[in-house]
Amino acid sequence: MASVKKLRVGGSVRAASDKSISHRALMLSAVANGKSRVSNILPSDDVRSTAAALRAIGAAIPPLSGEFFVTGRSARHLRSPQEALDCGNSGTTTRLLAGLIAGAGLTAEFIGDASLTRRPMRRVTEPLRAMGAGVALASHGGLPMTVTGGLLHSIHWESPVASAQVKSAILLAAVLGGVDATISEPHRSRDHTERMLGARGVDVRVNRNTVEVHAGQVVRPADVDVPADPSSAAYFVALALLAGAGELRLVDVCLNPTRTGFYNALKRMGADLEFEDRREVGGEVLGTIVARPSLLHGIDVSADEVPSMIDELPLLACIATRADGETNVRGAAELRVKESDRIATNVASLNALGGSARELEDGFTITGSRSALSGRVNPQGDHRIAMSFGILSALPGNDIEIADRGCVSVSYPGFWDALDNVIQ
Ligand code: S3P
Repeated sequence: MASVKKLRVGGSVRAASDKSISHRALMLSAVANGKSRVSNILPSDDVRSTAAALRAIGAAIPPLSGEFFVTGRSARHLRSPQEALDCGNSGTTTRLLAGLIAGAGLTAEFIGDASLTRRPMRRVTEPLRAMGAGVALASHGGLPMTVTGGLLHSIHWESPVASAQVKSAILLAAVLGGVDATISEPHRSRDHTERMLGARGVDVRVNRNTVEVHAGQVVRPADVDVPADPSSAAYFVALALLAGAGELRLVDVCLNPTRTGFYNALKRMGADLEFEDRREVGGEVLGTIVARPSLLHGIDVSADEVPSMIDELPLLACIATRADGETNVRGAAELRVKESDRIATNVASLNALGGSARELEDGFTITGSRSALSGRVNPQGDHRIAMSFGILSALPGNDIEIADRGCVSVSYPGFWDALDNVIQ
C-alpha cells in the first residue's frame, strides 16, 4: 500500500493509565483499614464516576492527581448515599460498586447515561441476590438499579459469562460481607481484583477459571502505582504496525497475561513486536512494547482468547481491514453489550468506509484490502470505536472523519494530542 508507506512514526509513549486498576485502587483503598497511596491514577471520566460515588458513600477520596492518599476506615464506616450514584458511562463503576454496596450492608440506587442504562445488570444482581442482597432493576434488566446489602450468605456461583466485573462484584460482596465465595467462569477474565486483594493481605485462591475467598478477611492498605493500560497502548501499537516507517515504544505497559491476548493475536498476524524491560511492580507485570511497521495477514480468534482481548476487538477489526486475507472472530457475543453494540457499530462503520466486514451473531469476519477508506464514522458515543477508527483515519490515503471525538474522555483524555505527537 504505497500511500501508507508515507506515514512515519516515532517516539516513546506512556499511554493512559490502566482504567481497570484505577477503579479498583480507589475502591479497595476506600474499604481498607488505613492509609493507601495511589500514584498515576487515570484521571478519566469513568474513574471520576467511581471517585464521586465513593465520596457519596463517605469515603475520603481526594481530588484525583498524580499522587494522593486515601485513608480508609473499613467498609463499616461507609454510609448509604443520599442520592442515586451516577455512574456515567462506566460499567465497571456500576457492577463493582453493586458488590461493594451489598457487602458493606448499604443501600444505593445506581443511574447512568443512555448507554449504561441499556447494559445488562442481571449478571451481577442474580449472584448478589443469591447471597441475600435486595435488588430492584428496571424491567429491561438494566438501570436504574437499587442494591440493598444486609446479612449475606456464602455463594458458589457459575457465571455464564466470562466477566471480571461479575467476578469482582461477588468477590467484593463476599470479602466485605464476611462470607465465603467460589466463582467459576467459562473462560478466565482479567484478574486485577484477585491480585490487588492479594496485595492487601486477602487470601484469594485461584484454580484455572475458579476463584475462591473465605470469610474473615481484612483488607489492608497498600500502595498502588497504576501502570499504563494495555488497551490504550494498543492504539499506538496498531499505528506503528500500519505505518510505513519508524517505530514506537510503549513504556510501563501492564502486561498481565489476562490482558495481552491482543498482542498475542498481532504476533500471529505477523506483527513486528518486541517486549522489553519486563518487571514486576505491585503484583502486576509491566514492560515496554516496541512496535514497527509490519505486513499483516488475517487470523482466526477463538472464544477462549476473547476475554484477554475483549476491549481491543474493535481495533483488531480495523487492523484486519489492512491485512492480507480474512480475519474471523467468534465467541465474542459480549461485544454486543459493551458501551455500544460493538459488532454492529464496527461492521457498519467499516462497510460505510468501503471496507469489507460481515456481522456474525457472536463476532465478525473482515476481509483485508489495500484500497483507501473514506467517509464519516459515528462511534455511537463509544470511546473504543472512536479511537480504533482514529488509527485508520491517521493513515495517509484514508479520508475518515470521526463524529464526537470527545467521547474518548471516559478512558483516554488527551488521546488525539498523543496521536498527533507520534506522527512525524
Ligand atoms: C473490565 C472488565 C471487562 C472490560 C471492561 C473493564 C473491568 O468487562 O470490557 O472494559 O475493569 O473489570 P467484563 O467484565 O464485563 O467483560
